Amino acid sequence: MTNQVTVAPIGVFDSGLGGLSVVGHIQQHLPSESLIYVADTGHLPYGPKSAGYVAERAQRLSAFLIEQGVKAIVVACNTATAAAISSLRQTLEIPVIGIEPGVKPALAKSRTGVVGVLATEGTLGSEKFRRLVNEHSRSGKVIVQPCHGWVELVERGELDTPLALRLVTEPVELLLQQGADTLVLGCTHYPFLTSLISQVAGSDVVIVDTGRAIAQELQRRLGQEGLLNEQQTLGQTELRTSGRPDTLALTIQSLLGSAVQIKQLPQSWC
Ligand code: DGL
Repeated sequence: MTNQVTVAPIGVFDSGLGGLSVVGHIQQHLPSESLIYVADTGHLPYGPKSAGYVAERAQRLSAFLIEQGVKAIVVACNTATAAAISSLRQTLEIPVIGIEPGVKPALAKSRTGVVGVLATEGTLGSEKFRRLVNEHSRSGKVIVQPCHGWVELVERGELDTPLALRLVTEPVELLLQQGADTLVLGCTHYPFLTSLISQVAGSDVVIVDTGRAIAQELQRRLGQEGLLNEQQTLGQTELRTSGRPDTLALTIQSLLGSAVQIKQLPQSWC
């Protein structure tokens, strides 16, 4: 007999395509789970917007996902997690997994005791991030850099152009000049720029991405709640956007190297 609960999909959302860096880890860890991914491209970027605006979008996308029957939601966006995770957990009755910059693992890896966090203004200016840094202040020094234009580079699939190199160089060099030997990717778009960041920072600098840890946490929570899909069949991933599906499909193809289908989010949720 089919168990309706365990075959329900998992909802994932981000302001755009960045959360696909997290989806890759989820697919690796939980291959039999089906996913519904929403890229809120019509409202991108979240980083410079107010916490209230981002929280409202997070509630709206979550309501859409709930209507699709998801059994858990992954907020694959540091900015939306900072703005909305508490209110989402208060209003939703299913597990909600968020993502935050990997300050703790970075401090554990750092030899200089200085870690640099690359993230959006929204994340860096949030109360949640301030608390995270305070919590770990005894383990070392945390310095930060907002990264202007990085999200848009990824959304255009522009990962190795002269403009990409110029935009990536400045914040990375500023962090290295202040002694950082470990860089935290505090935005889910940034893993797509890892090879450029590495090229600028040099191979001695450690780059920390929390995508894998989120997939592990999701697996743990689903297991705890008895929500894991125990079937051996391969899960499907459905993509939706509040932006333009045709242009997005091309960018996703250049980011992931494979053709995908992406559908419009129904107008009432855009
Ligand atoms: N990918 C998002 C994050 O992790 C937000 C990027 C944006 O829209 O500014 O913060």
